[in-house]
Parts: sequence; C-alpha cells; structure tokens
Amino acid sequence: MQPFISRDISLIEHFARDIIDGLSKENNKKWIKPRYLYDELGSSLFERICEQPEYYPFRTETGILKRYGQRIFKFMDDDVSVVELGSGNSVKTRILLSSLLEKQKHVFYLPIDVSQEILLRTTHDLNREFTRLNTFGIAADYSEGIREACNISAKNGTMPERKFVLFLGSTIGNFEYQEAIEFLTSLRASMREGDFLLLGFDLQKDVKLLEDAYNDRLGFTAAFNLNLLSRINRELGGEFRETDFRHLAFYNTEYHRIEMNLISKTTHEVHVNRLGRSFSFLKNERIHTENSYKFTLEKMKDIVERSGFQIAENFLDHNNLYCVGLMFANH
Ligand SMILES: C[S@@+](CC[C@H](N)C(=O)[O-])C[C@H]1O[C@@H](n2cnc3c(N)ncnc32)[C@H](O)[C@@H]1O
Repeated sequence: MQPFISRDISLIEHFARDIIDGLSKENNKKWIKPRYLYDELGSSLFERICEQPEYYPFRTETGILKRYGQRIFKFMDDDVSVVELGSGNSVKTRILLSSLLEKQKHVFYLPIDVSQEILLRTTHDLNREFTRLNTFGIAADYSEGIREACNISAKNGTMPERKFVLFLGSTIGNFEYQEAIEFLTSLRASMREGDFLLLGFDLQKDVKLLEDAYNDRLGFTAAFNLNLLSRINRELGGEFRETDFRHLAFYNTEYHRIEMNLISKTTHEVHVNRLGRSFSFLKNERIHTENSYKFTLEKMKDIVERSGFQIAENFLDHNNLYCVGLMFANH
C-alpha cells in the first residue's frame, strides 16, 4: 500500500470559491476559513510559533503527553491503530507513538492533514525513524480523511480494528460550539463502541497570557496570518501587498475566544487575476481569519457528551492552562 495518499485538497476551485465568498462580504464580515492558513509556508511558520516562549499551548500539551502518555494507554486493553486529525509535523505524537510501541509489537499510524507538503515530509521521516511503525499519510480535509482512514483499515487485514483517534493542538477551538458538536458526532459515527479519542483543548485563563500567545514578540504569528494574503497571490494571482494590512489578535471575553484578523490600513481595492475579480477594503476593515475558543472543563464535557463520547480522564498541567482529555466512544 502507498504510504501517502492525496485527496482533492489541492483543488484550487475550493480555495477560489471560498475566497470569493469570504472577501465579497461587507461591513466587517469578511472571513477566510482558518484551514487556508496552512500551506507549505504557513505550516513552517506554525512550527516557528510553537517554539516561541509566549506560545504556551505547544509546550504545555507536550508536557502533559510526556507525563501521562503511559497512563493513557493503560485504558486500552486491545491493540489500537492510531488516526490523527490535523497532525501537522506530528512532533507531539512521537511521544505517544514511542509509548505505544513499548506495548504493541507493531503500530499503524494514519495522520490526516490538509497541508500536503508537511504531511509528506512527516510520513517519510516517521517511517525511517521507527522500525515497527507503519505510517500512511492522508492529505485530505478531516471528513474525507476519516473516510479514507476507515477504508484503509477495512482493506488491511493486519491493522487492529480498535481505533485511537488524536485531535491535538487545541484545533477543536477553531470550531463554533454547534460545529464542534456536529464534527465530533460525525467522528463518533466513524468509530466503534470502545474506541478512544484524545482531545487537546485550551482552557480559559488570564487574558494577558492568552493575548501574548497570539502576539509573539518576534512576529511569527503576524507573519503566519499575513501569509494568507501571499497565498492568494501565489495560487490565485492576487495583487495583495502584505504591508497594506496588519495582524490583530485579541481575546473576546464575551465569547471566550481569541479572534485573529487582518486589518486593512487604508481604503483600497485588490485585484485577484485568476478570479477575474476585485475586492474592496475600507480603512480599518477586518478580514477575520481564525477563532480559537478557550473552554472550561464543564463546557467541553457538555460538547463531548452531546457528541456521543464519555470522558475517561482529563489530564491537566500543574497550572491548569491546558487539558488533554481521553474520551471513549459511548454506546
Ligand atoms: C493548530 S495546527 C495543530 C498541528 C498539530 N496537531 C499540533 O498539535 O501541533 C492545526 C493543523 O490542522 C490542519 N488542518 C486545519 N484545517 C484542516 C482541515 N479542515 N482538514 C485537515 N487538516 C486541517 C492544519 O494543516 C494544521 O497542521
């Protein structure tokens, strides 16, 4: 079997359609889906963000996985296959894979990500690094990727049927409340009773700590956000100038979320050649590029239980900044 599969994600038509939809809106309603932040350059910039001292989620989640990795697998009696949603460079996943390889003779790992280049590199590296690990990278959107992972495991006679699904990096925070429930409910439908989900989510905390994490001093988050405009230039022939926009990330205390925006510095128009369209921006008008919701343990319990999961255990760091929850699929 091929160790890497790509499914229609590079379809430029999807990107084009979403840009037309998102940038045609007026009155501060312009919006681009956060998945488009992650092209090859965007994913590399995200790796740099994770190294910044202000970005506590990465190192806190890493610490939790190091501390509780072995304990997490004590919940699982049978061998499992690992499926990961939005796997990125799988740096943190290596901690779990190493622990699992102490328990299982062989591990099948199916990472799913829209960022094709980083996934290809990671799949290649993992298959070289771990001798008893079989990695099959699936470059696809979550839902298509989950379908593909189910097909692969149905066709492969040696892969354990029991699934251990990872959704780390607080990516669940990019969904609205109802979307998160719909997403987890459809994920649950692809799982069997007794399969496990490990969900990393960020907790509500001091506003300064939150805002600093999305406004690092060296400007990697700003570059990551602004790269979205350069991506439109590269892939759709846009004529954006990054210098006409600035990065703005702040904590919305009413909705308990960090909002990431690109703010137009002047009133101007930008032509996007391959769309044959121009988009107009007022001075100080925003393009909303990401929400990152921050949860309480009760709120996440409500979301996962409404989606057909039951919490086995929540693992937190000493300062209660972040939580990695182990859930099992309910009947
Ligand atoms: C916040 S990063 C987390 C990366 C990694 N899991 C970690 O914890 O460091 C989100 C990841 O999800 C991927 N992603 C975003 N939207 C996606 C989608 N709709 N389908 C599949 N992957 C997606 C991005 O490419 C990126 O690698």
